[in-house]
Amino acid sequence: MQNQNSNIKAAITGVGMYAPEKIMDNKYFESIIDTNDEWIKTRTGISERRLMENGATSDMAAEAAKDLFKTTGVKPEEIDVIIIATVTPDMFFPATACLVQENIGAVNAWGYDLSAACSGFLFALQSGASLIESGNAKKVLVIGSDKMSSITDYTDRNTCILFGDAASAVLLEPSEDDSIGIHDSILRVDGSGQDSLYMKAGGSLNPATEETVKNKLHYIYQDGKAVFKVAVKGMADVSVEMMEKHNLSSDEIAYLVPHQANLRIIDATAKRMGIDPEQVMINIDRYGNTTAATIPLCLTEYYRDGKVKKGDNLILAAFGAGFTWGSMYLTWGMDKWEK
Ligand code: COA
Repeated sequence: MQNQNSNIKAAITGVGMYAPEKIMDNKYFESIIDTNDEWIKTRTGISERRLMENGATSDMAAEAAKDLFKTTGVKPEEIDVIIIATVTPDMFFPATACLVQENIGAVNAWGYDLSAACSGFLFALQSGASLIESGNAKKVLVIGSDKMSSITDYTDRNTCILFGDAASAVLLEPSEDDSIGIHDSILRVDGSGQDSLYMKAGGSLNPATEETVKNKLHYIYQDGKAVFKVAVKGMADVSVEMMEKHNLSSDEIAYLVPHQANLRIIDATAKRMGIDPEQVMINIDRYGNTTAATIPLCLTEYYRDGKVKKGDNLILAAFGAGFTWGSMYLTWGMDKWEK
């Protein structure tokens, strides 16, 4: 979605993150299900993930926002809009954005939650960018936060080893320099994938009953093989389309920033784009799949490690339940990280 009607461009001007302290490593899973470290590492690339023991999605989101405020000097009352990408809201309503607003003291903000599963952060970032481009907002907080442990069945070895809890935030502001910021996004949904990855009960279709709880219908259900195939194709298709649309060669891209679901999906996407492994942001080994938080977590860690610099071209890419998927092309505008 290229900005056609406005000369205002949205840029990321701050980052923040929160990862709970408690670590669940592969050894722990060996003790609760029939699995082993070698299988998990080779099939997924994951070594450990985090567990939010006390607190909910809004608490993690608020901590990520506070980290961002601390490191940018921006004050909560300056925030115009809060968008929370999540599939694990604290409650159906009120929106998690309301709970975060109160927690951080963003007294002048409005906000909402956005549900697009593992593509949630990309969809939220585009929504936030549109608010900036239209002139309707000057400071938009976009947060990906998911407490996946709250919907994970820890007796199902097919899914429980994949997911973790975390939150990460970015600040969007109007860019002062036209070459910096979000240039374009290609976003897609295809509801024919609804039965491959979903939570069967708890919504208006199958409200919670004793039966739904007994039958474990309030957990993630996934047909892993089916999702794997379409995820590789979906993420690679839109990323290659983005490169072609903007005449970008692989050496003009500093990093591919992929959703962290499975290292093999990431490798296959990078290969189709002609991107070298060292040009791919990876932290799936330490966090697993944190759904809406994966992409901003990568951005925050790589920026703070001094690995991404002003002027770097990035391609963000995601795939998730729905199906939802997309890619985004942006040029990084922040120069120095000092704590
Ligand atoms: N430990 C050990 N063995 C396991 C296991 C585990 N944790 N989980 C599954 N297995 C077994 C299966 O039972 C199966 O055994 P069988 O052949 O005796 O039936 C075998 O390993 C192979 O399972 P399979 O499902 O073919 O493995 P896979 O290579 O497809 O890997 C996933 C499974 C889930 C890692 C992979 O399908 C995947 O990553 N899918 C996409 C997930 C994803 O991206 N989801 C989020 C989208 S945003």
